[in-house]
Amino acid sequence: MVGFKLSLPASSANIGPGFDSAGIALNRYLTLQVFENDKWEFEHNSHLLPSFTDYKDHFIYQIAKRLADRHNKSLPACRVKIDSEIPLARGLGSSASAVIAGIELANQLCCLSLTPEDKLAFGTEIEGHPDNVAAVLFGGFVITVKTPKNEIDYFQLPALNLDIVVYIPTFELKTEDARKVLPKSYSRKEAATASGISNLVMASLISGNFELAGRMMEQDLFHEPYRAELIPNYQFIKQAAKNAGAYGTVISGAGPTMISIVPKGTGETTANHIQSLLPDYQVEALMVDTNGLQIKLAAE
Ligand code: HSE
Repeated sequence: MVGFKLSLPASSANIGPGFDSAGIALNRYLTLQVFENDKWEFEHNSHLLPSFTDYKDHFIYQIAKRLADRHNKSLPACRVKIDSEIPLARGLGSSASAVIAGIELANQLCCLSLTPEDKLAFGTEIEGHPDNVAAVLFGGFVITVKTPKNEIDYFQLPALNLDIVVYIPTFELKTEDARKVLPKSYSRKEAATASGISNLVMASLISGNFELAGRMMEQDLFHEPYRAELIPNYQFIKQAAKNAGAYGTVISGAGPTMISIVPKGTGETTANHIQSLLPDYQVEALMVDTNGLQIKLAAE
């Protein structure tokens, strides 16, 4: 077996009212270099990666093993060097990148010939919702849904002429905890208004009406009103970004990171300005990753 390298982008889910459905790939990466070996070994080269003791406890190994077992295959042993630029439990899709890494590891090592749709279906089964995994797989801005018939469909938006700014705090917020504060159901009136807002966000993004998209993004009714209280500086960041010219600012995924869409060419200025107001945060202008999962032959 020749060594190979996997590169997986970070992602931001929801983008306001696209709850569990909209995802955008961002240019921070999880990378794996995989080499044939006589035993399983994982080597972590980033402080952003979680610690582990035995390879069998490694999250990426567990996903790969689960998929290999499902196909009645055994995973050949490998040495896997991992690097990451994606902070954990911050709403930037670190777990979705790791899930897709595990899926692709099994796909390559066991020659499963999975289609992108197979990977999306398995990733969604693990994550519970398809938004982040679809963005990691396909890159760009992806809208996806698992229907009541268990069909998963997706649509990739055309390239958006926008800059992105993220506000990453030092504290973590686990998705599980951020989901506990959400209502179990919504009234018909709330659901109709909330999906109308979401429809307008997606249509206005596609048509390039970013002012309308930003205004609607900020009026989500599905999750933001319930999660805002978990996120210190929620209102402050929204207002500061608006003052700096952002179209709209929302919670990234389940938080606690927040994300703005801003006019093309203004990302760096906005990020630098808000960084000076929030010195404890990592405020960064990011790009949309348009490639998604990348697989390349690797040299040691
Ligand atoms: N759509 C998910 C949520 C993203 O908001 O809970 C985080 O995994």
